[in-house]
Amino acid sequence: MAETTLSVDSMIEALRAAEQAARSALSEATQSPDAAAEIEALRVRFLGKKGEVSAVLREMGRLAGDERPKVGQVANQVRDGIAEAIVAAQTAAEEAAERRELSAPPLDVTLPARGQWLGRRHPVSSVWEELVGIFSRLGFEVASGPEVEGDTYNFEALCMPADHPARDMQDTFYIEAGVPPEAVVPQGREAPKAGRPLLRTHTSPVQIRSMLAAGQPPVRVICPGKVYRRDSDLTHTPMFHQIEGLWVDEGVTMAHLKGTLERFAVEFFGEDAKVRLRPSYFPFTEPSAEVDISCSLCGGGGCRTCSGTGWIEVLGAGMVDPGVLEQAGIDPERFTGFAFGMGIDRLAMLKHRITDLRTLFENDQRFLRQF
Ligand code: PHE
Repeated sequence: MAETTLSVDSMIEALRAAEQAARSALSEATQSPDAAAEIEALRVRFLGKKGEVSAVLREMGRLAGDERPKVGQVANQVRDGIAEAIVAAQTAAEEAAERRELSAPPLDVTLPARGQWLGRRHPVSSVWEELVGIFSRLGFEVASGPEVEGDTYNFEALCMPADHPARDMQDTFYIEAGVPPEAVVPQGREAPKAGRPLLRTHTSPVQIRSMLAAGQPPVRVICPGKVYRRDSDLTHTPMFHQIEGLWVDEGVTMAHLKGTLERFAVEFFGEDAKVRLRPSYFPFTEPSAEVDISCSLCGGGGCRTCSGTGWIEVLGAGMVDPGVLEQAGIDPERFTGFAFGMGIDRLAMLKHRITDLRTLFENDQRFLRQF
């Protein structure tokens, strides 16, 4: 018969050769760092459905009936031999891996553990958030404006014309780059041109932007944010934080201002805090006041922080100047308003008895971790 050209001998030879090849490949694989994967690949190569042993067995059908058992017997031996060799190789590989691990440098369990570092709120951020909370409960909304401001909003609209001393190059960072955005105004109105670019020197320009944006009173906003001045010493940094307050409506008076500030003082400094208004001057408020709060350190008796006076100056405030209302498109005959501005950093210093403002901006973790 034509099909029986395969000889029993050559098939047996092929099976034995496969076993030899498998054994030597397996013993090599045990040395590999990736032994498990390599051994599995060899199992597929030799014993898999499409493997070398199966290929020989598929040819068996072409042998004469009495020859099949001879080849089948050898095939079984070879398959069992390879299977055993695989198990042996796996064991050997595991042992080798264990030996490698044991001979590696030992783990030093006496080394101190690495500590867990938890982030914290910066004292300026937590005071900022506290202030927003206090004034939100009093009905103020949070407003914001650009730090790159124009002199129209930072000065002009606040009754500080070109020759006003506060506009001096000594105090103000005028800048070349940056285009301050114009105020957002209701449809049909026109926003004043922003003017010469500068870094805002206070948060008061947000008063103007908020009034322009509202179109008509009521306007009741606070504006916390960064401001910039050419200043640097124990109590001044070139960048610091202010919070502005503004309430414009029919019938707003100085009494509303004082009531608002008294509530703020009690919430921020404690039940016993008292507020005192002293006459002062700001170009954009009339009348203007400097506002003191009773010293929380000595309770009013006099100490170093309050220079023995029992009072600490905390903010500037006043009734919005009619000229400012007019420039913001609001009728000063019908509406009045109050405004105030205070330093957030200064409040953080008072609260935490910090004596050098600059420590707030040096980002020294040993200092900041205390709060
Ligand atoms: N803008 C003033 C300043 O920076 C503070 C202030 C705000 C005063 C609002 C009165 C009213 O010094």
